Amino acid sequence: MHRPNSAPTALLIEEHGFLTTPGACAATLPLSAATDMLATWRRKPKTRPAFLRLPHLDEEREKARLWSRRFREQSRRLIVLGIGGSSLGGNMLVAALAPNGWAVTFYDNICPEFLASLYDTDWEDVTVLAVSKSGETAETLAQFLTVLPVMRARLGPRYRAHAAVITENPNGDLAVIARDAEIPIIEHPAVGGRFSALSVVGLLPAVFAGADIDSLLAGASTMAEECLRPHPQENPALRYALAQAGMFRAGRNLTVIMAYGQRLEKITSWFRQLWAESLGKRDQAGGPQGLTPVDGRGVTDQHSQLQLYLDGPPDKQFTLLHDPGLATMGATIPGDSFHHLPAVAPLAGRTIGELFAAEFLGTRDALIHRGAPVRVLSLAAADPYALGEMILLLEMETVLVAELLGVTPFDQPAVEDGKRRARTYLQSMT
Ligand code: PA5
Repeated sequence: MHRPNSAPTALLIEEHGFLTTPGACAATLPLSAATDMLATWRRKPKTRPAFLRLPHLDEEREKARLWSRRFREQSRRLIVLGIGGSSLGGNMLVAALAPNGWAVTFYDNICPEFLASLYDTDWEDVTVLAVSKSGETAETLAQFLTVLPVMRARLGPRYRAHAAVITENPNGDLAVIARDAEIPIIEHPAVGGRFSALSVVGLLPAVFAGADIDSLLAGASTMAEECLRPHPQENPALRYALAQAGMFRAGRNLTVIMAYGQRLEKITSWFRQLWAESLGKRDQAGGPQGLTPVDGRGVTDQHSQLQLYLDGPPDKQFTLLHDPGLATMGATIPGDSFHHLPAVAPLAGRTIGELFAAEFLGTRDALIHRGAPVRVLSLAAADPYALGEMILLLEMETVLVAELLGVTPFDQPAVEDGKRRARTYLQSMT
């Protein structure tokens, strides 16, 4: 098993009332449907969903390495165009793992002001990677089509070496445009966008930025095996899926995921999409299902959301992400001249990391004290092995909660409605 040389840590999970809050693990949930599904996946590996197979696919990691090497031949920076599952996974990996994460910029929006910097770039030093599984996403096509002429104008025929696309659909519009522009097409594997973090979609930007993807995938592979086990006691994804689905049925329909650590913050954005698009559905009887994910940032949101979390309605379940290594980092707060001041006294001589850790523990305990169900996922942000474990755990929990709520996790039928209406507006604009 490949593990990083520098102080590897596994994902640590700690829970406080998460499995015992009223409703958690309720006997009314269709547990047998979930365990039957797992039994089939154990017996017939070919029936496993694609995201579960990704940690073992050498092809994806080799593709990521090959293309990263090619990009690096002419550029020190990578610009990723794409939205939703075509951006969030890669962004999470780069932010958490890559020491020089600044080398990759993700443009995941089309607000014209946000996009302005895209066109004003040092093109000699940049590769553009447009990612769209369908090849039909309006935002990504608009980004790519507007950036191509700028690249041509600045680089002449050399622009071809500075761009590539990832798409699954060889007949989709993105592939047609890429072929016309003689830009290479990298194959998107048959896995849904929001489950594609461990495919070339997430791995390529991560390798480019210097991340250790072997350890990442080793962690994911270990967790994939654990999450296939038959019993909730030995299968963390099944155990926590039962808890979360049960608490949802008992009225805790908000999932707060709050990150303590800058490198962990993008995990909350990735999770928000995974949870919302996979679970927010109609079940077979037409009933609305889904837990609303709420992302938070420690400590900042202690001064914004925490009052509501502590004294507001008991409709939330909490997952806190925590990087224990931060406790030993940061400047020491000098207190020599001011230690007599009451607000300064407890800070004097402490590091910023100690203050950060104390605030995390204080928030955790305040939630527990109010009877809120809390789970803490601790991982060193720069530890790819633990991150791989966590990604697989959260993906499996999502799929198992979907099974328990009777919805299909891998589609997003309602999103089409907004797209159709936007197209109508576009057509009617003069
Ligand atoms: O998870 C999903 O499938 C979606 O969020 C897609 O990733 C998103 O809509 C972008 O689609 P595409 O990759 O086809 O451009």
